[in-house]
Amino acid sequence: MTEPLFGSLNPGPAPASRRLCAVEDIPDGGAKGFPPPPGGFTGLFAVRRGARITVYVNACPHLGVPLDWAPDRFLSVDRRHIMCATHGALFEIADGRCVHGPCYGAALEQVLIQVNGGTVWVPEDAGL
Ligand code: FES
Repeated sequence: MTEPLFGSLNPGPAPASRRLCAVEDIPDGGAKGFPPPPGGFTGLFAVRRGARITVYVNACPHLGVPLDWAPDRFLSVDRRHIMCATHGALFEIADGRCVHGPCYGAALEQVLIQVNGGTVWVPEDAGL
């Protein structure tokens, strides 16, 4: 008797994910914040440099508070770093590592994303 071809060869369903936004919702050279999903406590934010998008949990590694001081305000004045509004810590945009401030050497929690057809997807539990 021949076994069916699926089974161990079947990768199974894709991990649960949720739509974050369209790529064009994030201003090129800027950032955008997203509130927590229903039942969540911590939101996310995205930074875009052309086609490169990075998404982080909106919680400073110093005290765990949100980084933005106003809606969508996550970057330093020169837009070269992510900046925490509470004590001014600066983080690398590419990897979230703190390069200045009280949490020097710590890092923001980066969220793995998928971009399909101009839409940004994040894991279902990101930012909860
Ligand atoms: S809470 Fe962000 S630097 Fe202190």
